[in-house]
Amino acid sequence: MLSLSAPEIVPINTNNAQIGVFDSGVGGLTVLQEIHRQLPHESVLYFGDTARVPYGNREPAEIVTFVREILHMMAKQDVKMAIMACSTGSALAMDLVKGEFDFPIVGVVRPGARAAVQAGSRIGIMATHATVRSQAYSNEIWRCAADAQVWEIACPKFVPLIESNQIDSPEMMEAAEEYLQPLIDREIDTLVFGCTHYPHLKRVFQQILPPHVTYVNPAEAAIIETAQVLAGEGIQANPNLSGDTSFYVSGSAHDFADLATNWLPSRPYVQNIPVESLRL
Ligand code: DGL
Repeated sequence: MLSLSAPEIVPINTNNAQIGVFDSGVGGLTVLQEIHRQLPHESVLYFGDTARVPYGNREPAEIVTFVREILHMMAKQDVKMAIMACSTGSALAMDLVKGEFDFPIVGVVRPGARAAVQAGSRIGIMATHATVRSQAYSNEIWRCAADAQVWEIACPKFVPLIESNQIDSPEMMEAAEEYLQPLIDREIDTLVFGCTHYPHLKRVFQQILPPHVTYVNPAEAAIIETAQVLAGEGIQANPNLSGDTSFYVSGSAHDFADLATNWLPSRPYVQNIPVESLRL
């Protein structure tokens, strides 16, 4: 006679702690959007260092200090992992700080470079001054495809215009035309948003670049990598939960909430963490 035993219940390791996500401002929201799309069960602690934006014109050592301070703050909040949703931070600080924390950290540069070589071979990178100077994107791209042709353009006017809600302004269009022209001249087939703020400008770029150009948003590949890390460590959120996000900024909570409403389903509740309390 067939003996029926109780059905086996396979335990799934879950961890509902937050993922720390940070940027100098609203750029990281392009990464948050990807988390909502790919990992809707995950909860997020979002930090925008708006008192110190833009990072892109700063010295490398200062950027590394800011990144370290933010990761320490996130460690105190017991995040289960962190995402540097800032290309400048990823380019300048990832290799230096990664080993200092006992949770996994994912950046945007490496996954973005890998996605770029899958998209094309004449690759334009738009990024901040600091990211371009570091050549982090070019080096990662050449590690994956030694024969890829790469041109990096620093675009310092973009972040201040985005942070002051001037995406559709004539100044933005003028700046985009100026920065994109050298890439059009080199007949790029792929454009990498080498700063997490820039996917907010896609509709501006589409008015200027030829239609065959493929856009690479490193956030997409970074969240695929995040999903792999969560699965590999067995720390995914319970799939029966829907994730939520707590927003913090070092500058004006009110101004950030106003601006972020452009990219979120509703106006977020935002709290302030002053810069002084971040210092180590
Ligand atoms: N969004 C950031 C990046 O990806 C920082 C831009 C800035 O603060 O200059 O590089």
